[in-house]
This record gives sequence, C-alpha cells and structure tokens, in this order.
Amino acid sequence: MPENSDNCCPPAKNIILVGFMGSGKSTIGRELGQLLSYPLIDTDSVVEEQEQISISDIFSLKGEDYFRDCETAAVKRLLGTCLDHHIIATGGGLPLREENRKLLKKLGYVVWLDATPDSILERTSRTNNRPLLQTENPRKTIEEMLEKRHSIYKDVAHLRLQTTGLSISETAHGILESARYFFGQA
Ligand code: S3P
Repeated sequence: MPENSDNCCPPAKNIILVGFMGSGKSTIGRELGQLLSYPLIDTDSVVEEQEQISISDIFSLKGEDYFRDCETAAVKRLLGTCLDHHIIATGGGLPLREENRKLLKKLGYVVWLDATPDSILERTSRTNNRPLLQTENPRKTIEEMLEKRHSIYKDVAHLRLQTTGLSISETAHGILESARYFFGQA
C-alpha cells in the first residue's frame, strides 16, 4: 500500500508507470488515463517545462546528474501537492536513485512495464530524442542498461508486467484489475 505516512497527504490512488525507455509508459499511460478519466503526467515533460529546454539539451548542456536532480525535484513537487487520481509516466532512469524509489512508492501504485530488448530497440529507434541511446551499438547499450536496471525496477514496483505480445488494451486492463485490488486492500 502507498507508504506516505511521513507526509500529511491521505494515501494516494495514483498509478505510476516505471520501466525502460520504449517500454510503452506514455502509450499505456494515455490508455489508462482514458479508461479512468485520470489526467496523465509525464515526468520528462514536467522537467522540460521547468527547465524550458528539451531533455536532450539538458543532457548535453548540463549533464545527466543535473537531469537526475531535476527528476527528484519534479517528483517532490508532485508529492507536495498531495497529487491524487493521476497516471504518472516516469522517465526510464527516474527510479535509479533510492530516494526517488521511496518517493514513487509514496505517490501510489507502481507498475513496471517490462519489455524485451527487441521491442525496446524497435520502439526507440524511431526517434533520436534519447541521449543515452545515441551510441554506436544501441542494441548492446539497451541490453547492458536493462541488466543493470532490472533490480532497480524490481525494487520499486508493486507489479511487474511483461508487455511484449500484449495489446495496449490488454496491458491497460491488466493494470486496472490489479490496481483496484491493491487500492481495495490499502
Ligand atoms: C531516460 C529515459 C528517458 C528520459 C531520459 C533518460 C533513462 O525517458 O528521461 O532520456 O535514463 O532511461 P523515457 O523512458 O520516457 O524515454
């Protein structure tokens, strides 16, 4: 159940999507938002709005550590408003910091959208807006990063869902069912 006992907000019924770049967080987030009539918040967009530049420019001009600080600040702001009944799609590296993992759990039900390297490569190769994947061998990069991040996502998530082979609707309905159960217990 949401672990927000150290702030003054009531337990929040947000659904938070975590997972690797290209795992479908934005797409599934939009679908969940429509099914539940909940607004969708994307932490990458929150950071871009705050900084008034793109994620790629933040990485190249200010560096990854600065971007991670922005992510932490963004999640803290969301928690500070006692945000409730929202879908929150997170940047793929947001759970890397232990502090962020604790904050996410306070925000609500955390779902890890897992996907195979093949489907991640297929989805992420359509655009070049992910600085960490602009390497000579994106497939190798994806495999190495996935391996490093596996335990991170496992640690933060209440639910892990393997999305490869599932339709958007199947994935969203699976999440809804288990979120209802989770919140019913909370
Ligand atoms: C990142 C994922 C990106 C974005 C940034 C870093 C990561 O978000 O936050 O490029 O470290 O995995 P998406 O997961 O929405 O692509």
